[in-house]
Amino acid sequence: MTPDWAPVYDAVPRELFLPEVLWPSVEGRRLVVSKTDDPEEWYRWAYTDVPLITQWDDGGPLRAGADRGDLATSSSSMPSVVFSMLADLSVFEGAKVLEIGTGTGWCAALLSARLGEDNVVSVEIDEEVAETARKALAAAGWHPKVRLGEGLQGMPERAPYDRILVTAGVREVPCTWVRQTRPGGVIVLPWGPDFTDQNAVVRLVVAGDGSAGGRFTGPVRFMHVRSQRVSWAFSDYLPDGDWPADTRESTTTLTEADVVTDDPFAAVDFVLGLLVPGCSHTVGRSPSGKQTMWLFGLRDRSWAATFFDEENPSASRVYQGGPRSLWDEVEAAYRWWVEQGRPGHEEFGLTVTVDGRQEVWLGNPGETVPAH
Ligand SMILES: C[S@@+](CC[C@H](N)C(=O)[O-])C[C@H]1O[C@@H](n2cnc3c(N)ncnc32)[C@H](O)[C@@H]1O
Repeated sequence: MTPDWAPVYDAVPRELFLPEVLWPSVEGRRLVVSKTDDPEEWYRWAYTDVPLITQWDDGGPLRAGADRGDLATSSSSMPSVVFSMLADLSVFEGAKVLEIGTGTGWCAALLSARLGEDNVVSVEIDEEVAETARKALAAAGWHPKVRLGEGLQGMPERAPYDRILVTAGVREVPCTWVRQTRPGGVIVLPWGPDFTDQNAVVRLVVAGDGSAGGRFTGPVRFMHVRSQRVSWAFSDYLPDGDWPADTRESTTTLTEADVVTDDPFAAVDFVLGLLVPGCSHTVGRSPSGKQTMWLFGLRDRSWAATFFDEENPSASRVYQGGPRSLWDEVEAAYRWWVEQGRPGHEEFGLTVTVDGRQEVWLGNPGETVPAH
């Protein structure tokens, strides 16, 4: 937290924006905490630096007997991430801010406390979430404008904004946000490719010509805006479980250690995604005990499976099908990344061009990464 936000943090307690039941999001643990049943535990989590899930499956009912849903769809973001993004936003007195993804309303309250509630508008796509946030904000004494709607459209009637803060992950930056921001204004958003659910925060500065660009400031994991979630099913690609007749078979010398990681913030996942767009992936253990990387083309039916053979690494087998050779693309992307000296997230940047194209660059704008 930068010192300018510390008094605001003290003035706007996170607990005022949390529901009765919370699901603290801690890797590898299944937690659910009720304020009524265990107030001490509830308060402990309210002031722990973790994201707290507040809604599953867009508000759909939990399956009978389940203590959680399948997909986390709303949360109170991790406090350190909130304040790091607020620092990136570099607000100034009187700045007019649009927030995308109201969630619990905590962020909208922090912005209201800093800038005045008349300068803050927030858009939330989920009716129940928006209503709960409005009530929590009012109870805490803040009345920023909370609008129910599609955040990708921004909020044109209050534009232009000095700042836009996006608190849901984005794979494609909508031109509307750039158009609704004043030249010189800043848009801070979690952006990521299709390959992984990892994002990196990017700080875009809007230029006079209607483009916007800037560097990534670090990796995060945000739930995605609804229309940009990625989903696929094995059965869409390999319907009967057998390799199709046109499967291409080869070997690779890349190892599991090169491209498979347990670190949810690993740069390798992010970079493979930058260079291999339109491709999602998962990793699993095959019945023979080998780690397998599966790749799925989202815009065509291309697929690939690589069975890593740690005992005989130069003989790891690769199976690929469809118009793209996704493993070959991933391998080329990995080798490119190594040649560049394995740059981290912060060495990359993003430009949204005047005609809405997204260009990711390494080092300086214009040095666009060689995406396939
Ligand atoms: C991580 S939460 C936001 C956290 C929030 N800023 C806070 O302070 O608690 C992400 C929110 O984005 C919302 N959302 C998802 N897609 C959206 C969209 N297209 N437009 C507006 N809100 C969206 C979700 O419903 C969810 O409430």
